[in-house]
Amino acid sequence: METMLLDENKLDIAVELIKRGEVIGIPTETVYGLGADASDENAVRKIFQAKGRPADNPLIVHLADFAEAEKYTESIPDIAWRLSEKFMPGALTIVLPKNNRIPLITSGGLDTVGIRVPAHPIMQRLIELSGKPISAPSANKSGYPSPTTAQHVMRDMSGIIPAIIDGGECQYGVESTVISIENGDTIRILRPGFITPEMLGTVSDNVIVDKAVLAGLETGEKASSPGMKYKHYSPSADIVIIESDLEKFTEYVGGHYGEGVYSLIFDDDTEKFPYRYMSYGKDSQEQAKQIFRRLRELDDCQAVRVYVRSPEKSGIGLAVYNRLIRSAGFEVIRL
Ligand code: TXA
Ligand code: MG
Repeated sequence: METMLLDENKLDIAVELIKRGEVIGIPTETVYGLGADASDENAVRKIFQAKGRPADNPLIVHLADFAEAEKYTESIPDIAWRLSEKFMPGALTIVLPKNNRIPLITSGGLDTVGIRVPAHPIMQRLIELSGKPISAPSANKSGYPSPTTAQHVMRDMSGIIPAIIDGGECQYGVESTVISIENGDTIRILRPGFITPEMLGTVSDNVIVDKAVLAGLETGEKASSPGMKYKHYSPSADIVIIESDLEKFTEYVGGHYGEGVYSLIFDDDTEKFPYRYMSYGKDSQEQAKQIFRRLRELDDCQAVRVYVRSPEKSGIGLAVYNRLIRSAGFEVIRL
């Protein structure tokens, strides 16, 4: 199969493919996705095959408007409506009890479904023109860093899917914030993203960051979100996070330097840093936008081991840290 790269003037081809039950690469404001009709079991099966994704890891369902969620869920608590008014369209996914219009294959066997209303204009038009709910995981091969350009998707999915819509580089660079709702108005963050705990705190006084956001699960422990139990976002290079100031970081890298050793540092560090490096921005927002791209580029450079300066664990930094500790297999060194 030859994979077509479509621009937004060729959206009619993409719409036709979705209606025919095919899987295509789609741009969103967070990362690129692998989209297909969420209500079509065969189409959804193709997503799992293309990614090599475990069958128990549920897909997010993308809708043009949150009000459409009434068609696919059992009930919507008040707080979900309030969250939707404030943050949708945008980088927020709300887990709700699903009804039988969402097949179990889409929800990974769960009785809930994650609903997201993407802000990207191409995604908005694709959903509206196809008239379908679109399930879409990130468009990487399972376990690899998420794609933030159409070219990244091409690298992972060329010959596997019929088309990719090129919508340019993703605005945010990390995936949506995934939340569930407990006891009426408690918000549990299952995966941090651009919608931060602080922002969610403007809608509810009770915001919990799930313990798996910042740490690995213990053996045998049950994940509130299946995606959290898998090794994730991992390039071939061995990633190690170092929590320290620049001086100690530099000293540590010097003591462990050699062929294939790279560092991933902040833009402001570069002047004083004497070793091989890439930099990933000067604040959390830039780090979020660049992190997956840099992890892929480090593989292109045949990096063997990468020491990463730890991002902040608050605000958008929490999302960056959450992705990095998974790509590092939870290897964090505190100096
Ligand atoms: O920004 C995003 O969310 C991107 C774009 C394409 O929309 N999508 C994305 O999908 O990141 P994916 O499949 O790569 O990650 C979805 C995460 C997984 O960790 C999954 O386990 C969790 O959300 N999730 C999905 N549905 C869930 C549910 N019903 N209950 C708990 N966790 C769920
Ligand atoms: Mg993913």
